[in-house]
Amino acid sequence: MPNAYISGTGFYVPPRVVTNDDLIAMGVDTTSEWIVQRTGIEARRYADEGVGTSDLAVPAARDALERAGLTARDLDLIVFATLSPDMAFPGSGVLLQQKLGLCEGPEPKFVGALDVRNQCSGFLYGLHVATGLVKSGSARHVLVVGAETHSAAIDISTRGRTVSSLFGDGAGAVVVSATDEDRGVRGTWLGADGRYAEMLCQKVWDIRKRPFIPVDANGVGQVEASHMYAQMDGRTVFKHAVEKMCMALMQACWATSTDPKEVDLFFFHQANMRINQYVAKQLSLPDDKVVHNIQRYGNTTAATIPILLAEAEREGRLKRGMRVAMVAFGSGFTWGSAMVDW
Ligand code: UT7
Repeated sequence: MPNAYISGTGFYVPPRVVTNDDLIAMGVDTTSEWIVQRTGIEARRYADEGVGTSDLAVPAARDALERAGLTARDLDLIVFATLSPDMAFPGSGVLLQQKLGLCEGPEPKFVGALDVRNQCSGFLYGLHVATGLVKSGSARHVLVVGAETHSAAIDISTRGRTVSSLFGDGAGAVVVSATDEDRGVRGTWLGADGRYAEMLCQKVWDIRKRPFIPVDANGVGQVEASHMYAQMDGRTVFKHAVEKMCMALMQACWATSTDPKEVDLFFFHQANMRINQYVAKQLSLPDDKVVHNIQRYGNTTAATIPILLAEAEREGRLKRGMRVAMVAFGSGFTWGSAMVDW
């Protein structure tokens, strides 16, 4: 049975920087101090109108493929994790497949494209699927992408400030490849608790209703703000995030007989700096082993971990031979962890 390792990492964030003060200028009654103190976020990126989630994913995917020494035609599957897909259906995976040029030329390669709908844990759910397929021999190279365009679908007003001050746009990607070397993804662990589905959700419609979106006298769909934008019980999410991230990280350590002290770097989902500091404190993890970039990008949901990995590799911080742990928690509730020998 081959091992599955991460052969390439890539990321892309749109160039437009939106600082906390920019949010105020856009009409949000907040202060930069409030946001920094509660979340650690100083700025996030917003994509321009006309740019979709699959567009952000293209440069991230190309970057990861190039670093893996592969082309899109080497891929056996695309896994696309997002909660902000370009459209309700089809998923963004097929759009990315087409934009990577896989349907063109004399020998098109119509690789499968799977969308993952697991929000902040989406990347680790995708990594779980990719690793399983590579280890089983069903695939040699799987592209796993996490990408989000939050800026179009958050309530950038005082009403929506609890949510809108957190989220940003971006994309991260990895290629998971087969190897006979003794390295790679040692395990991935997933969890979910659907009792809390409505603690962090964006409903948009109610499919039980006829029609599923209320219509006005002209038959035009009308979506209430409470359905149009994400709703979050921040305190409940915070409490469960700390608990489940600690649990998922310990699970990864126990299952691989790893003392947390043996882990070289920890890649936590970037939802809130305070959540991550709590988790690190509970598990006595040294600050210099926990990687952050939430200050610059905010919460990019499924994209946070692959962006962190790509940046850490570029900076020379993440090196071959290191043991790294990843953990995420988010809407669903869902969570996941992974232990990887880089
Ligand atoms: O990716 C996973 C998903 N998300 C998370 O992990 C987020 C988890 N939760 C959190 O990070 C925190 O709950 C938040 C940062 C979102 C909020 O912090 P909090 O300390 O839990 O604040 P709160 O929601 O309890 O609100 C406290 C006050 C409220 O005012 P009142 O009712 O006490 O007058 C809010 O209206 O803070 C107010 N508030 C703000 N004030 C200024 C909420 N957002 C803002 C804001 N600026 N941006």
